[in-house]
This record gives sequence, structure tokens and C-alpha cells, in this order.
Amino acid sequence: MMNFDLSDDHRLLEESVREWGAREVAPRIRELDRQHRFDPAILAQMADLGLLGASIPAEYGGSGTDYIGLGLASEELEYVDTSLRVILSVHVGLNSLTVLSWGTEDQKRRYLVPQAEGRKIATFGLTEPAAGSDARGIQTVAVKKGDRYLLTGEKMWISLADVADHFLVIAWSDLEKKKRRDPSGMSAFLVERAFEGFSSGTLKEKWGILAGNTGFFKMEEVEVPEENLLGRPGEGFKIAMFALDQGRYTVAAGATGLIRACRDAAATYARERTTFGVEIGQHQLVKELIAQMESDYQAARLLWLRAGWLKNVGRRSTRETGLAKWFATVASERAASDAVQVHGANGYSDEYPVGRFYRNSKGAVIYEGTREIHKLMQADYVLGYREDRPTRCVLPPFAGERASAR
Ligand code: CAA
Repeated sequence: MMNFDLSDDHRLLEESVREWGAREVAPRIRELDRQHRFDPAILAQMADLGLLGASIPAEYGGSGTDYIGLGLASEELEYVDTSLRVILSVHVGLNSLTVLSWGTEDQKRRYLVPQAEGRKIATFGLTEPAAGSDARGIQTVAVKKGDRYLLTGEKMWISLADVADHFLVIAWSDLEKKKRRDPSGMSAFLVERAFEGFSSGTLKEKWGILAGNTGFFKMEEVEVPEENLLGRPGEGFKIAMFALDQGRYTVAAGATGLIRACRDAAATYARERTTFGVEIGQHQLVKELIAQMESDYQAARLLWLRAGWLKNVGRRSTRETGLAKWFATVASERAASDAVQVHGANGYSDEYPVGRFYRNSKGAVIYEGTREIHKLMQADYVLGYREDRPTRCVLPPFAGERASAR
């Protein structure tokens, strides 16, 4: 039976994140953004709310909320500012859920538990200076030496690069396969900032998500013990794609929150501002922009909810997650541009939040699969060039949901 109601737990989560964001972050986000300042105190508060352990089972220190809860939290965080949602995307989406699904019990104890409890911060390293969309084009290598791997390479455009303690790193471990670009030559590693030969830095030239930390990290023969190999040798590419299924999910839900923020800001302004003797909301061309935001918001929300439901019941959602991410991010860019338009000249100043929304919206049209990569993937599913088959690459399902779906 179809049921579009949120549970009481979902509502409570949604309200608590909304209330926290409005109270603690919204009043000072403009200043943080102006100063290009990432505030680490926000991490501690997110940990107190249980957000850093969202969708991680209680036995590993998490809050135990399901994947819909993770989406709701993403939506509410990005309603305030994209930088908040990015924390969830890399820490929970790309890293912790991947360790939960692919890690050994020992790895979960050593890495997942402190991450879920918010004592350690985690991120993900796939992208490099010369390889973004072309994930097979990475150059980082992992050379086996006895019971260790020596990792050498540079990762770029990494959210929380200068903040995180733990890094999930994708590297070539088979150099022959690297020459042939055969992705079964890649492996995934759990790397700590404290490992010798590791260094990181912050990118200063960004023009969006300015209250977030984005940077690079370098590894010069970083010794990684064999027990920090995630999955089996050769599973790195799959693990990266699996991680992106979860990261993209939080991006989709987050961009949905950004559309809502644009809609609300535009509607508020449209009731305040008058031209030609009436509130500008009375003009049909303004109504058109607001109506588009509403339709995009509702559609984006349904798309991520469907992907979240598939995750809850233990089914692969690569296709649905990609569609939700593509649709929501493109729509959020349009909503932000139109929200600026509704504000007229005032929208072109940072006295109003819509300029920040506009700058922030562009990032997600590029990261975690560009608009173009997602278009290609969706077309390939329809054309039958890309197989939409279930694999073992699914998240651990939530028991109650699974029972009702099968
Ligand atoms: N889950 C599990 N396995 C998967 C998978 C998934 N979601 N997607 C693919 N695989 C498996 C496939 O089944 C296949 O395995 P088999 O050969 O056993 O069937 C294998 O992986 C290869 O898959 P593909 O053939 O799909 O690989 P491809 O080369 O065609 O992929 C691509 C092309 C889709 C464009 C891919 O390269 C891609 O998604 N590129 C975009 C990368 C991206 O989003 N990068 C952003 C990183 S975010 C970051 O690093 C920044 C930060 O802030 C942390």
C-alpha cells in the first residue's frame, strides 16, 4: 500500500534540524559566508544532534535513523546553507555508509564508531587535479610492500580536506590494469591524517559554499597497513561508485531543500515589494517563477524519497539516486537564479540570501557527477546500454521496511 506520510520519528528529526538551523546557524551564516569561514563548532553541534551518525545503526554509535531520515536531514541543512549539507554528504554519505557496507568488523570499530559519534570527521578522495568525471583517469597509486601499501598521489576538490581525520581513498593497486584503464585494478583504503607523508590544504579561490571547507590532500608514500584496505583488492572502483550512490542521495535531498529556500525567499519578497501599485506577487510573470519553484520542489522531493525508500528496503538505487540528483541540482540552480530575479536589484546584493543560494547552487550541478554525466547515465539506462541490475552493492536495509516490501 502507498503511504506518503512521514513517521513521527521523521517529523521529529525534521523539526529538530530545522529548529537548530534557524536558531544557531541562520543568524550568522551571512557573516561566515562573507568571511569564507568554516566554523568547527557547527560539527560539534551536529554531533550532539546525532547527525554525524545519521543512518548508522546504534551498535556502531549511530542514531539509527533510516535513509529517509538522512534525506530529511540533508534537506533541512541545505535549507539554511549548502555548507551544512556538504558535511553530511562526505562524512555520512560518501564515507561512513561505505565503511558500514564494505568494512570488516575491526574497521567498523576503529573508524565507523568514532565517526558516527562525531569524535572523528571523515571524507572521501576520488577526484584529482586531472580526473573528475573520468574516474578511471585517476593517477594515485598504491604499491604493495610486505603487509603495507605505499600510497602516492594528490586528491583535489575534497570537501573537509583540511578538517577531516579519516579519508576513504581510491587508488590504483594494479599498475598493469592502470595502463589499460581496467577499473578492477583499483582498491579503496582507509587513510588517517596522522599517517606520515600525508598533507592537506584549503582552496581559497572558490566562489560558492564559502562557509564550507574545500581543499586538496597529498600523499607521498603514505604507509597504509593492509588491514586498512576496504573491501578486497580490485574492488576500489565499485566501492567508489557505491559511495557516490549514497553521496548523491544527500546531494539530491539537499538541493531539494535549496529549492524550497529559494521558493520561500521569493514568496516572502513578492509579498513585501510593491511595483505599479501592487505586491509584485500579483504580477503574472512573478507568479510563473514561483509556480516553477513549487513544482520543482515537489517533484525533486518525490524523486529523492523514492531513492531513499529503495535504500531502506535493501535494493540498489543507482539509477533512481542519479535521476534525483540530476533533477534536483539543475532545478535548484534554476530556482536560485529565478529567486534573484524576483528580488530584482536587491537580489544582486548579499543583503538578501538569494545571491548566496545562487552561488551555492552551481557546485552540485558539477560535483558528484556533473549534469552531463547524469544525462548520459539516464539515457544509457533507457537505451539499454547501462544495466540496471541488482548486485550485492546495496546498503544494509532497515528491518521493518524490508519486511513490508518483499
Ligand atoms: N555500485 C556498485 N558497483 C558499481 C556501481 C555502483 N553504483 N556503478 C558501477 N559499478 C560497477 C559496475 O557494475 C562495473 O562492474 P562489473 O564490471 O563487475 O559489472 C564497474 O563498477 C564499472 O562500472 P561502469 O562500467 O559503470 O564504469 P564506467 O567507467 O562506465 O563509469 C562514469 C563511468 C559513470 C562516468 C563514472 O566514471 C562516474 O560516475 N564518474 C563521475 C565521478 C564522480 O561523480 N566524481 C565525484 C567525486 S566526489 C569527490 O571526490 C569530492 C568530494 O568532495 C569528496
